Amino acid sequence: MISDQLHWWQQGVIYQIYPRSFKDSNGDGIGDLQGIITQLDYLTWLGVNAIWISPFYPSPMADFGYDIADYCNVDPIFGDLGIFEKLLEQAHRRDLKVIIDFVPNHTSDEHPWSVESRSSRINSKRQWYIWRDPRLDGGAPNNWESYFGGSAWAFDQHTGQYYLRQFHAKQPDLNWRNPEVRSAMYNVMRFWLDRGVDGLRVDVLWMPIKDDQFRDNPINPEWKDGDLPWAHQIRLYSEDRPEMHEIVHEMRAVMDNYAERVLIGEIYLPLPNLIRYYGDNLSGAHLPFNFELVLLSTWNAQTIRQAVEAYEAALPAEAWSNWVLGNHDKPRIASRIGREAARVATMLLLTLRGTPTWYYGDEIGMQDVTIPPHLAHDPQGKRQPGYGRDPVRTPMQWDGGPNAGFCPVNADPWLPLAADYQKINVALEREDVYSMLTLTRALLTLRRTKRALNSGNFYVVESKSENCFVYLREHGKQRFLVALNFSTEAQMIPLPEFGKGRILISTSLDREEQVYLKALSLRSHEGCVIEIAED
Ligand code: GLC
Repeated sequence: MISDQLHWWQQGVIYQIYPRSFKDSNGDGIGDLQGIITQLDYLTWLGVNAIWISPFYPSPMADFGYDIADYCNVDPIFGDLGIFEKLLEQAHRRDLKVIIDFVPNHTSDEHPWSVESRSSRINSKRQWYIWRDPRLDGGAPNNWESYFGGSAWAFDQHTGQYYLRQFHAKQPDLNWRNPEVRSAMYNVMRFWLDRGVDGLRVDVLWMPIKDDQFRDNPINPEWKDGDLPWAHQIRLYSEDRPEMHEIVHEMRAVMDNYAERVLIGEIYLPLPNLIRYYGDNLSGAHLPFNFELVLLSTWNAQTIRQAVEAYEAALPAEAWSNWVLGNHDKPRIASRIGREAARVATMLLLTLRGTPTWYYGDEIGMQDVTIPPHLAHDPQGKRQPGYGRDPVRTPMQWDGGPNAGFCPVNADPWLPLAADYQKINVALEREDVYSMLTLTRALLTLRRTKRALNSGNFYVVESKSENCFVYLREHGKQRFLVALNFSTEAQMIPLPEFGKGRILISTSLDREEQVYLKALSLRSHEGCVIEIAED
């Protein structure tokens, strides 16, 4: 049972839906809100507690919905406000919470605010965006670089000034130093909260405020060819400015006028900076996304243990932790580490302390799909070959039939399907007692039903094996050992202090048995959740 003392977002699991790719209900090859409605029963069957839907607002789709032309509506590709309300109502009827994306850093250049702002230097919306004069030589006002490549400044011929755009030229940055912008954006939050959405995932929450003097960013002295293009500069002045925390606090105050809503921040920063987004006295984001597991360059028991311990140690008292394995911007887990290892990663994510966020399709082991250049859409990949995000956004594989059940037979999916979808799909894996889907669902059930697993204490256990990561989850008398072997070799780990226990689930799904923990054996890529017998 879910306890009353904890918030739903503390005990639940969040499932991210990229709406273009989840389910197409009208045959245009692009997923939509009605498609999501048709799959709500799947999501409750799977056992997640909340869905986070990436942007579905009116958009020219220069960055696939992260360029918003109207914050308070639905793009016709995805449906309309009425369908969104139906989705909300249908989700709530199933006790599923709904989190939506809030994109405060930038609008589309086709947003009426931007159109006005660009129309003349004296327009009342001019100061809603960040305009600067060219340097004397005509160049950009400073050296800031865009995440999508090139300068972060775009020149506007008509008014003879540059505007800031940290992403696409069609995504001008809003001016968060302007109180009118703040109040308009807080009204956007209220628009959706009034309709009953349960939470907001705030896009690039560390970026909206920039240095008031627009100083040049230092160049990263360690950067070399082949490194991530956006790591070329140390973004000291263009992001994570001290003033940002005041805004996060204001956003939180808006949320706090409503009961039981969650404020999640997308934040890619080193731990000490990330942690500050919880705010003084936890008055900031409830969950600043923790991407430590997404960003690990080496995936093994030691690096994972270090990441977990460092994060746990950095968290302020009472702050609620959270973990992410994948999202619409990063390579899929089953591609990063392989399908077998992804099963262990799933057990890790669903047994760690803190709220897990799940990326659609990872529950069936979807992998990145190579997209031929002529079919590429993502602006980041087009400007920076090799860094495209299309491969992780391909259509959900519902069944082995035509178009994987994502869209009707005669439709053309907006991105190609994985070549292996006839083997890797929901329909097939539902029937397979050993599948990744069966494993994910079983772990979700276990997590939901065992208080120690969804909100108990967490202790690292010394395992004497450098290939294994072992920890204890505990609530009252309920104790579970989680023992994860991240290597391809079988491991024998002595845990005599725990006496005997019962394996409730193994990542191989073929082992439910009593074990003496003085010598616990784990096969290659095997993880187990073991209930410790009360003595
Ligand atoms: C966030 C989104 C990403 C988008 C960018 C600009 O990082 O997750 O998909 O391109 O913001 O909005």
